[in-house]
Amino acid sequence: MQVTGTLNSRKITITAALPYANGEIHPGHITSTYLPPDIFARYSRLMGYDVVFTCASDDFGTPILIEAEKAKKTPEEHVAYWNKRDSEDFSALGISFDIFYKTSSKENVELVQYFFRKLYEKKYIYKETVIQPYCGYDKKFLPDRYIIGTCPYCEAERQYSDGCENCGRAFTHGEIKNPQCAICGRTPIQKTSEHYFFKLSSFSSALKEWLTRNEKLQSEVKNYVLKWIEDGLRDWDVTRDISWGVPIPLEEAKGKVLYGWFDNHLCYISTTVLYLDRNGKNGKEFWNSSEIYHYIGKDIVYHHYLFLPAMRLGLEEEYKLPEYIPTRGHLLLQGKKFSKSRGWYIGLREFLDKFPPDYLRFYLSRITPYDQSDINFDWDDFEAKINNELVANAGNFLYRALSLLQSRAGGVVPNPTNYDDADKRFVEKIKKIASTAGEQIESNELDKALKSILEFSSACNEYFQSKAPWKQKEANENCLYLAINAARTLGILLSPYIPFSIEKLSKQLNIDVNQTWDSASELAIKPGHKIGKPEILFKKIEKEQIEEQKAKLKG
Ligand code: MF3
Ligand code: ZN
Repeated sequence: MQVTGTLNSRKITITAALPYANGEIHPGHITSTYLPPDIFARYSRLMGYDVVFTCASDDFGTPILIEAEKAKKTPEEHVAYWNKRDSEDFSALGISFDIFYKTSSKENVELVQYFFRKLYEKKYIYKETVIQPYCGYDKKFLPDRYIIGTCPYCEAERQYSDGCENCGRAFTHGEIKNPQCAICGRTPIQKTSEHYFFKLSSFSSALKEWLTRNEKLQSEVKNYVLKWIEDGLRDWDVTRDISWGVPIPLEEAKGKVLYGWFDNHLCYISTTVLYLDRNGKNGKEFWNSSEIYHYIGKDIVYHHYLFLPAMRLGLEEEYKLPEYIPTRGHLLLQGKKFSKSRGWYIGLREFLDKFPPDYLRFYLSRITPYDQSDINFDWDDFEAKINNELVANAGNFLYRALSLLQSRAGGVVPNPTNYDDADKRFVEKIKKIASTAGEQIESNELDKALKSILEFSSACNEYFQSKAPWKQKEANENCLYLAINAARTLGILLSPYIPFSIEKLSKQLNIDVNQTWDSASELAIKPGHKIGKPEILFKKIEKEQIEEQKAKLKG
């Protein structure tokens, strides 16, 4: 969807954290990581910005190798399956990536090896002999998830050896307490291996400077990252003695690959550049002259606020650092952590089998703030917000505006005459709402922007109610004219949030779906325009549907 005719030169690169090619997309990831950038990308397109929105599957690493082994598949087969499946799920939810690629692509492998060589030449990567856990029984080195143990910082149990899901710290080997082989449960022995380390420690002051200077990063996140820097950064082992990964591009390192967190975020760059190059632009030039947004969930702050910028700083910003790293919190289900194994779960596909994608998009947008706090998916609240706000507020107005125009004026927009005070006040509201909501979206407050749009919708209902055009024998020209225009305004502003429904609305209004955001403030539907067939856009959720979902939760 490209808006033409605008001369807006703002360039924007948007990425969403890459899902591991290892299992279905989690509703939590949708909430923090995929829906917010999609709304922003859709808004940006309506603004006429030059925007690119990319993602990819995160293919490498030990967890994937372990799962592939379990499923008796090659890792290539395993990741190909999940890449396709994720891509289908994203489409079903209307996540409008320009490209969904993969970290195991030729382009990414090349870029990753290029980064490695550069960092190695500049001595930001050095070699050291390390002692590695090795399972004598399975005859394997045991990196990362091949080891389970206790977090040395917060004592959380059953953590993997590369980081703690409880306190969010990343660790290097040797740090985890009570290590055990994840395959057979035996205590590993120690064996030596040559490993390559990235000198994260030497970037402490540069990172501190970058974080402090960058006003656009969320300050609450920045503050705890600065605290991590103060506590002292450790160099980072980027080597894995496994077969599935980007080969370390050194003769002496045969058989060793790079750690997944060395290669995955570089795929933001390789994928974006590839897409742009293919589409007649200079990808690298675009990257470096655009505003860059990396959307993430709060569990991967360490990697995005430290490793990622340090690696780009190590190449003297040959590829620019991000301006924004919008970071959002975890999703809870009825106040508790999602858990598939404990039956406290709803899958994305399962959800979309029962409810339209726009219902999920609407509800999640409505309850997800621009900060790190937990977000609670609550079935009763879902029902209330859909029924009261989407159905009874927005849906009601849109349907009434269309159907009254149909019944009173044969679907042909009448000529307005002299406006009374109510009309004038209403026109002012139409003129203002696009910029109010737009400013909120620009400052990443997608939930607040949606609230403003819903307030506008309430005002539309009030206007309509006060005019009561259905009571009058004569068609009330001003009311019908302004209402149909307000319906268009509302449609444009809601389109980033609920694109599927607004596409239908555009047909009913008989207008092009690609209206610019700013044009939402205009009375662009002219007298004489004939609308299409009015239909109800949103169906009410019934109590039984909610009870059915609640009953499925064990716990
Ligand atoms: N796959 C990682 C996760 O789910 C996220 C990778 S984001 C990246 O935690 F871009 F940095 F790769
Ligand atoms: Zn073992």
